[in-house]
Amino acid sequence: MCGIVGIIGKAEVAPLLFDGLKRLEYRGYDSAGIATLKDGRIDRRRAEGKLGNLGAVLQAQPLAGTIGIGHTRWATHGRPSENNAHPHATDKVAIVHNGIIENFQELRDELGSLGKKFTTDTDTEVVAHLLTHYVEHGHSPEQAMERAMGRLHGAFSLAILFADRPDIIVGARRGSPLAIGFGDGEMFLGSDAMALAPFTNRICYLEEDDWAVLSMDGATIYNDGRRVNREIVQTALSGALIGKGNHRHFMMKEIAEQPTVIGDTLQAFMNPLERRIQLPDLPVDLAGLSRLTIVACGTASLAGHVAKYWLESVARLPVELDVASEFRYRQAPMDPDGALMVISQSGETADTLAALRYAKSLGQKVLAVLNVPESTIGRESDVVLHTLAGPEIGVASTKAFTTQLVLLACFAIAVARARGVIDAAREAELSSALTELPARIAEVLNHDVHIREIALKVAEARDVLFLGRGTSYPIALEGALKLKEISYIHAEGYAAGEMKHGPIALIDENVPVIVVAPSDELFDKTFSNLQEVMARGGRVVFLSDADGIRKLGGQAMAAVELPRVDPFVAPILYTIPVQLLAYHAAVAKGTDVDQPRNLAKSVTVE
Ligand code: F6R
Repeated sequence: MCGIVGIIGKAEVAPLLFDGLKRLEYRGYDSAGIATLKDGRIDRRRAEGKLGNLGAVLQAQPLAGTIGIGHTRWATHGRPSENNAHPHATDKVAIVHNGIIENFQELRDELGSLGKKFTTDTDTEVVAHLLTHYVEHGHSPEQAMERAMGRLHGAFSLAILFADRPDIIVGARRGSPLAIGFGDGEMFLGSDAMALAPFTNRICYLEEDDWAVLSMDGATIYNDGRRVNREIVQTALSGALIGKGNHRHFMMKEIAEQPTVIGDTLQAFMNPLERRIQLPDLPVDLAGLSRLTIVACGTASLAGHVAKYWLESVARLPVELDVASEFRYRQAPMDPDGALMVISQSGETADTLAALRYAKSLGQKVLAVLNVPESTIGRESDVVLHTLAGPEIGVASTKAFTTQLVLLACFAIAVARARGVIDAAREAELSSALTELPARIAEVLNHDVHIREIALKVAEARDVLFLGRGTSYPIALEGALKLKEISYIHAEGYAAGEMKHGPIALIDENVPVIVVAPSDELFDKTFSNLQEVMARGGRVVFLSDADGIRKLGGQAMAAVELPRVDPFVAPILYTIPVQLLAYHAAVAKGTDVDQPRNLAKSVTVE
């Protein structure tokens, strides 16, 4: 999940590479580095930490040259430090890498016994030495790369400079994404089209095991010893860097954008006049589908969790749900009349992609709910259902999650209609509930100051519990995930009814318990669990509507009153206060909200 970029052209490349890296920093910010080639000499600058640190180094010691490569790192092998920062280089080769070289130890031992000296703790350094070894034995860069492809195991995308060849950059892809950008007398390599958007909109995506030689006027692509052609596509991505507007953090901007982007997503999947859902042509017959398997990671998997409740209760479709890192290895048998749905903001998550490939190998059709359709998952799926959240920059997912929920709600209604379990009147009712959401969410956003006051108390806690039942249960999980990832407070989400089976032992006056409890058919059950918590001195933050809050009286430490909505859409609305709680708790703790420690936006390693 590092970001890589490479440029060969006419202009000085270091500032351009730096620009490309700015757009890739979401992939990792443990360190960054750039190498250029000038007069047969590889020169590089590297810095630990955020890209800004590399900027300062480059300002003090600029790099010259019209050919170069750059990297922003999310550490896998070797701690984040300047020494472990990419590019890794010998006097003959410089390399940047995204992925994991699984057989690095074997190669390191082998190359070490041939006299190569290793100076870092990374897996990547072996690739630099392996290529150097081939070049020293008289191989051209092309021959060296062909051989290296046969020796490297694992997942990688690579960009490589050869000191003796100032006219080429070599790129390679196995498992991790890599795109080639075509300019006018200049050529680009990047982890994604977004990195290349300031330079060109003519993009070609490398496929598995492709490697390519880029010169100033084009690219030659090889796979398994043969030249291959890959289609060049026009990307619609904008080259402009996205700003924070009037907000202090991207996360808050993205929380505030939810009424708009939910409206945009609804417009794409619903006819508001007829209050009828309209999906694109699907590769599966929704009426005949025997089972849907939903696979995703992190927050996206929690969107799938809500969808499971909707699809089973509203559409009567059996759903299996798993996190991709487990699903991909458990050799699940898949129903021939079933289908796979993957959900992903980035469309690049390695585990989700592997799950997709597994299901395809069993002949399943794949439906992908994606925010970035121009992604590897997008290209490998049978159909993309596009959430219109727009670019999400904050590492903690907010608007991507709620637009996934909105799209999945539309999907559940469409499945219910196709299977004949709801009539047009019920479809119109559920659709109306969805169309009300942007306005209701805007009302909840107005509670920001009140939620901030509550968050200041939550921020003092060491542990926090989130409880919910039914579709509120995944929202409790999401609240806990959001809080821990950006505020570093330990938080757990539980199904409210599970409390008495163990977690209730944690309750005391120091553990805030956030209860997600819209007035729905499960409210009374959740309410009883709440009483059990309060009877043991638990300090409750109660998220409910006017009816719920009236029932509770003044017993909670704090309450947030949300508008009354159809229980079908409640999980979407109740996501907003848990996002705001996490955000304000993190700001109170002074953490790096948009780039929390140890995380990255796009997780392209397993
Ligand atoms: C949490 C978060 C992550 C992602 C997960 C999947 O706020 O953002 O848990 O949801 O890494 O990423 P995508 O959706 O890109 O597949």
